[in-house]
Amino acid sequence: MDIRRQVSLKKYNTFGVDVGAAYFAEVASTDELQKALQFAERNGLRLLVLGAGSNVLFTRDFDGLVIRLNLKGIETSFADDAVLVTAAAGENWHSFVQDCIDQDYGGLENLSLIPGHVGTAPIQNIGAYGVEIKDVFETCQVFDTETRGIRDFKKDECEFGYRDSVFKRNKGRYIILQVTFRLTVKDHKISSHYGAIEAELQKRNITAPTLRDIADVVIAIRQSKLPDPAVTGNAGSFFKNPVIPMEAFERLKHRHPEIPGYSDGTQVKVPAGWLIEQCGWRGKTIDNVGSHALQSLVLINATGKAAGQEIYDFSQLIIDSVQQEFGIGLEREVNVI
Ligand code: FAD
Ligand code: EPU
Repeated sequence: MDIRRQVSLKKYNTFGVDVGAAYFAEVASTDELQKALQFAERNGLRLLVLGAGSNVLFTRDFDGLVIRLNLKGIETSFADDAVLVTAAAGENWHSFVQDCIDQDYGGLENLSLIPGHVGTAPIQNIGAYGVEIKDVFETCQVFDTETRGIRDFKKDECEFGYRDSVFKRNKGRYIILQVTFRLTVKDHKISSHYGAIEAELQKRNITAPTLRDIADVVIAIRQSKLPDPAVTGNAGSFFKNPVIPMEAFERLKHRHPEIPGYSDGTQVKVPAGWLIEQCGWRGKTIDNVGSHALQSLVLINATGKAAGQEIYDFSQLIIDSVQQEFGIGLEREVNVI
C-alpha cells in the first residue's frame, strides 16, 4: 500500500470536484487499513474514509489522510429458509445486487443501480422504490476508531431511520468493514407497490414480476430521470425529503392544494423535488452549477468545472427560497466535507 501525497480527489467523487488530499491511500485489506490508521496517528492526521464518493461534496482541500476502502470478497451461508450473504465494504453495490438477483436471492432488487460501495450502504440506510437497506440488513462488522477494536452491529443497534443511522450520527467513528444481508431463496416478497414501478410493469404487460423484472424496471425508471455521474457530476438527491407534522401540512395544503405528501398518520413526507420546482429552480443553472431538468432535487456540476463551494452556495440559495416560500427548512442529504 502506497501512501501518496497531494492527490487530486476529482476522480474519487461523483460531483467531479477538483480538490486535493494532503495524503491518500487505497486500502485492500484490514492489515493495510491498520497500517494506514497507524500512519495517520503517528503524523497527527485527520482521517476520511471514502467509498465510491457518490454521496460527498468536498468544499475545500482535505488536510489529512483520505483512505479509499477497497476491501473485496463475498461469502454465502444458508440459515433456516434464508441465505446470509456477506460482502466486503469495497464491493460495488450495483454489481453485488445484480449477482444476488442472478442467483435468485431476493430482497435487494429495488435497490438496483444505486451508486456506491456495499460498506457505505448502511450509513444513510440507502433506500429507493419502497425498500430500505434496513429491510434486509442482518449485521455489519466495523472498526471502532475510539476503542480501536472490531465489533459487530446487529440491526437494532444501527438505529436506522430515513437516510439515517448510528453511523451517520457518529461520523468518522466507525469504519464499516463488511455487511451481511438476509435474503430470501423462495417465496420472494416482491415489492411493486411504488407508483412508478406499478406503472412501468403495466406498460410492459408484466402481471407476476420476478426479481429480475423488478430490477429491470427500477433501472429503467432511474435511467429516465437521474443523471449518470460518469457524464454529469452529481451525488443523487442533494437534500432529504422533509418530514413535517400533519397540521403544518394541512396549513400548506390550504395555500397550495396540489402539494403532494405521503402520510404515516401523524407526519407527512413532502417531496423536496416538488418544493424546489415550485420555487423555479428546476433546470436552472447559475455559472457552473444547476438543478437537474428532469429531477430538481439532484444538483449537478453542469460544466464539469464547478468548485465544491459553488455547489454549496447554490444549495443554500435553494434552502433559502424553499424556507421563504413554504416555511420548510431543507436538510442536506449529501455529506459536506
Ligand atoms: P461515499 O460518498 O464514498 O461516502 C459517503 C459517506 O460515508 C462519507 O461521509 C464517507 O466518509 C463515509 N464512508 C464511506 N465509506 C465508509 C465506510 N466503509 N465506513 C464508514 N464510513 C464510510 N442513495 C440512496 O439512498 N438512494 C438512492 O436512490 C440514491 N440514488 C443515487 C443516484 C445517484 C445518481 C447518485 C450519484 C447517488 C445516489 N444515492 C442514493 C447516494 C449514494 O449512492 C449512496 O449514499 C451510497 O451509499 C454512497 O456510497 P459511496 O460508497 O459512494 O459513499
Ligand atoms: N417531484 C417534482 N419535481 C421534481 C422532482 C420530483 O414535482 O423535479 C415530485 C413528484 O411529485 C414526484 C415526487 O416528487 O412524484 C417524488 O419524486 P421521485 O419519485 O423522483 O422521488 P424523490 O422523493 O425525489 C426519493 C429518494 C431517491 C430515490 C427515489 C425513489 C430522497 C431524498 N430521495 O427521491 O434517492 O431514488 O425517492 O425511491 O429520499 C438519493 O437518495 O440520492 C436518491 C436518489
